[in-house]
Amino acid sequence: MRGVWNGDGWVRDGDTVVVTGGSSGIGAATARVFAERGCRVVVVGRSADAVQRSARRCGGVPCVADLAGPGAVDTVLDVAGEPDVLVCNAGVGGAGPLAYAGPAEVEHLVRVNLLAPALLLRAVLPGMLRRGRGHLVLVSSIAGGMAVGGEAVYSATKAGLHALAASVRHEVAGHGIGVTVVVPGAVDTAFFDRRGTPYPRRFPRPVPAG
Ligand SMILES: NC(=O)c1ccc[n+]([C@@H]2O[C@H](COP(=O)([O-])OP(=O)(O)OC[C@H]3O[C@@H](n4cnc5c(N)ncnc54)[C@H](OP(=O)(O)O)[C@@H]3O)[C@@H](O)[C@H]2O)c1
Repeated sequence: MRGVWNGDGWVRDGDTVVVTGGSSGIGAATARVFAERGCRVVVVGRSADAVQRSARRCGGVPCVADLAGPGAVDTVLDVAGEPDVLVCNAGVGGAGPLAYAGPAEVEHLVRVNLLAPALLLRAVLPGMLRRGRGHLVLVSSIAGGMAVGGEAVYSATKAGLHALAASVRHEVAGHGIGVTVVVPGAVDTAFFDRRGTPYPRRFPRPVPAG
């Protein structure tokens, strides 16, 4: 059996792996790795062109869904079925003092970075518990483990993922389900352009996504 170590066991050939934000950067690189290991990868993203391109590149299944909007979880599960692995990677950045952030921007960050992962976990967990097998991966950030001025809400959403994972880990203990939190430092992706503020530090230099 080929596979990748997933924390508690091996991902098997043919396993269904959902990668949110699989259309770009870290998610696209993650989708390729799972596809190379023989998994059926469901590439989730908002931009149809980018989703199709990434899915084609890894031989995966495209799934266009806006995780900030209603119905996104149902769309993902309609395409994926019952996933063996869920990688909650989709995320948006936000930079600037909280005092000057618009309420819609604050809400969008919470919806994409924290609410969508919580709703996705809630949706896939019953199937994983029934099968006694599965793995949940939450892509956080170093900003979730330390206070970053100018990134208050982004940091809070990422810290929330750590709490979500730690709590769910208690709930699934002994059920064959693993929970992993990935904590990237600076990675050279479209992330900084998209949030509208370039990466500000000379060190560490951003590393390639894959
Ligand atoms: N880059 C870094 O230095 C860094 C550091 C720490 C943590 N991270 C985290 O790593 C994760 C991946 O980021 P990245 O660097 O790879 O950035 P990226 O290249 O901008 O990728 C972000 C992905 O999230 C998807 N996404 C954003 N909003 C969405 C929405 N409303 N619905 C569905 N999908 C949505 C995007 O899809 P579309 O393009 O289709 O919208 C894209 O595939 C994020 O959670 C980020 O917070 C990144």
